[in-house]
Amino acid sequence: MPQIAGTEDFEAHLDRAVALDARLGGVAQVLRAIAVASIEMSGLIGLGRLYGRLGDSRASTNTDGDVQKELDVLANDLFVSAFKRAPVAAVVSEEMSEPLVLDPACLLVVAMDPLDGSSNIDANVSIGTIFSILPVLADANGAEAHFLQPGRTQIAAGFVIYGPQTSLVFALGSGQTQIFTLDRRAGRFYQAVSAPVVASECAEYAINASNYRHWDTPIRAFIDDCEQGTEGPLKRNHNMRWTGSLVADAYRILLRGGIFLYPGDQRAGYMDGRLRLLYEANPVAFIIERAGGKASDCLRPILDIVPSAIHARIPLVFGSPAAVELVARYHSDLQFSAEHAPLFGKRGLMRL
Ligand code: F6P
Ligand code: MN
Repeated sequence: MPQIAGTEDFEAHLDRAVALDARLGGVAQVLRAIAVASIEMSGLIGLGRLYGRLGDSRASTNTDGDVQKELDVLANDLFVSAFKRAPVAAVVSEEMSEPLVLDPACLLVVAMDPLDGSSNIDANVSIGTIFSILPVLADANGAEAHFLQPGRTQIAAGFVIYGPQTSLVFALGSGQTQIFTLDRRAGRFYQAVSAPVVASECAEYAINASNYRHWDTPIRAFIDDCEQGTEGPLKRNHNMRWTGSLVADAYRILLRGGIFLYPGDQRAGYMDGRLRLLYEANPVAFIIERAGGKASDCLRPILDIVPSAIHARIPLVFGSPAAVELVARYHSDLQFSAEHAPLFGKRGLMRL
């Protein structure tokens, strides 16, 4: 077996973090539980049809009305079982309408999207598990209240991506983002990238462009300008990538920059976009910020937003700082939007 030269093992990394700050002991246990469960998930996903029809739809829908897949439910059960063996007071999951109370004496709660990108299961495209670990609130009235904190208070957050490589991407305490990759032969995670830095600018954007007609003017103006390339006001050719799995787009942007947008739009139910604040936007914003990137709801930093409900949606823009700031400028300065969008005159009335 080829040597994994000089790379730190995940367990050793956590031990070192806890030795430096003993308060991270509990959260390290939760991260260990996530790692163990994700190895099982990775094996199961790798079997694909050999395991069964994991991408098949069930009769049920989740909290948001999305059709549940076999693997959504399996992943939820697997991670809930893992959290029962860790110091977790309660769990919020995309697949459960209410918080699940585990051990109320514990000091941490976890919000998770157990299987992100489930439309890609059958397509053999990267999917993932997203998690956010928060401290319990001393004066919370009911389990739900613990979760209604801004993302800035997360003690650790990140995601596991199940792709050609299975990688655990996380930031712990006040630390920088780390990427550990599963060595399937050893069944262990090793450090693959220490403290990646999101490129300050990059001309690659990710958006579901089929929603163009539903977007508000600032988003249309920004994308129009990207498409105009060197002939437009941004004076730069852009490239487009959209995987349909948030984890895969986030992983790419972490490593080579770019911008991701899932804005609110005019479709019924999409006023705040598609993605959920607690277990999609917050963890992604956490690891992107800890890698020098930015994340906003088009205007406000994601991590400053106080959730209104556990399954609340939020418009999400994240990636290279210059690009995220530029999108905010299109939203805050309509004159700028108008000047920068060559097609603006044809768009008719501005919709904000
Ligand atoms: O979990 C929601 C999700 O599947 C994300 O992983 C992804 O970014 C997005 O929805 C895809 O949305 P759409 O179906 O509009 O392409
Ligand atoms: Mn998801």
